Amino acid sequence: MQFDVAREAQVVTSDLVTVWLARGEKVGLTSDVGALAQALIDRDEWKADAKNAVLLYGGKAGKQRLLLVGLGTGKDVTSETLKRAAGITLARAKAVKAKRVGIVVRGVKLAPASVADAIGEGFVLGSYVAPARKKTADKSASLPRVVVSADKNATVVEAALEHGRVVASATNRARRLGDLPANELTPTDLGAQAQAMAKGTGVRCKVHRVADLKRMKMGGILGVGKGSAEPPVLIELHHAPKRATKTVCIVGKGITFDTGGISIKPPAGMEEMKYDMCGGAAVVGAVEAAARLNLPVRVIGIIAAAENMPGSRAQKPGDTLTTASGHTVEVINTDAEGRLVLADALHHATTFEPDAIVDLATLTGACVVALGHDAAGLFTRHDGMRKALQDAADASGDPLWPMPIFAEMDEDLKSSVADLRNLGSREGGASWAAAFLKTFVGDVPWAHLDIAGTAWGMRTREYLGKGATGAGVRLLVKWLEGLR
Ligand code: BES
Ligand code: ZN
Ligand code: MN
Repeated sequence: MQFDVAREAQVVTSDLVTVWLARGEKVGLTSDVGALAQALIDRDEWKADAKNAVLLYGGKAGKQRLLLVGLGTGKDVTSETLKRAAGITLARAKAVKAKRVGIVVRGVKLAPASVADAIGEGFVLGSYVAPARKKTADKSASLPRVVVSADKNATVVEAALEHGRVVASATNRARRLGDLPANELTPTDLGAQAQAMAKGTGVRCKVHRVADLKRMKMGGILGVGKGSAEPPVLIELHHAPKRATKTVCIVGKGITFDTGGISIKPPAGMEEMKYDMCGGAAVVGAVEAAARLNLPVRVIGIIAAAENMPGSRAQKPGDTLTTASGHTVEVINTDAEGRLVLADALHHATTFEPDAIVDLATLTGACVVALGHDAAGLFTRHDGMRKALQDAADASGDPLWPMPIFAEMDEDLKSSVADLRNLGSREGGASWAAAFLKTFVGDVPWAHLDIAGTAWGMRTREYLGKGATGAGVRLLVKWLEGLR
């Protein structure tokens, strides 16, 4: 997707001119079609309500095209409103095969940089196409050039557009990884994808294979991976800027397919378990954005990747395994595999002595029952992290909702044959999982994000369609930007 910044006089020469208009504002174009638009508003035939859009034709042979997009009340317009306007605009631009789309924004109280950031992000997220394999390729229109109007502040606007573009393309990378089917994205493939990302960005990437996992005594990842012909891996990504004062680890669940293992899942909807690596995908995306934005914080991404299969070597209910921290776990249910691989990955994170750890995982169906698809669960005992992550979520359009980790649960996670069992009870299942994870982070400030409801299947927004959403990437970037 290409962006340009130009004076309004140039923007209005685009083959599709769009005016994003707050209520009560004038269209303010001298063209024939501009006058028509104003007349419609004056006659009360079109209102600048949010998401209300109309495409008007005017001039000689209807050659002038003007898309009006309503924004609602100017003082209530947020980044989210503008991203939705971008989604609406992109869909209309594709429908009329526009080559150059000019954007004029009227009556918005946000700073020019925030407006441009949202435009960059909204268009790039809107341009995402999920990977597909069809005999005849989809002939959808190529993407238009987007020309943003700025009579002053042009350099600020350019930088903000670029910021939005970088965050959205990193999010789109995570979406693509999520949408890839499990036969095209094994744990080894996920390692190669992380390496490919690192190559383009100056990030250092290390993929630990089975021999390394054995040396590091990662019984959790090895136990889950045992039932599959595809070997598990632990992926490490390092963004290490010289001027960094803080170190944070972001840890992702990377189960490339979750059959449930021997505690096998019922068939209905099992195809969705290709998305069980979306926490890992978010880590790849967030590290990419941190590197491309040169964020002055050391970020270590850690992804525990495995395929949870019921093969003849699969772990079995009742097995006990020893995790990297030395804690032993009785495997009651092989479908509670995410917490097993995360146990090793979280412990590995603590060895870097970070200032904070955040993990992201499609961890429990119970979290989807609790929150639906409108927010991911935010689990932490650290008030500072809860606030910082919640603020980042609210500002980024990548929603979180606070959830508890009850101290009472610790006692009930004890096993008679090991230190822990990998199952609590069905009621409060998302909190049981979080309580299990807590054991493996020691004293490091830590938050767990259960993205089972948001990694895919969210209600669609104008700029964010079906399939993987890249949940976590945008809020992590916001959170990293706020660290000092
Ligand atoms: N990957 C699933 C969680 C999941 C289920 C995410 C549905 C999104 C939609 C996870 O590994 C799992 O199977 N969790 C079990 C835990 C249970 C066995 C304690 C679950 O949620 O049922
Ligand atoms: Zn899973
Ligand atoms: Mn499972």
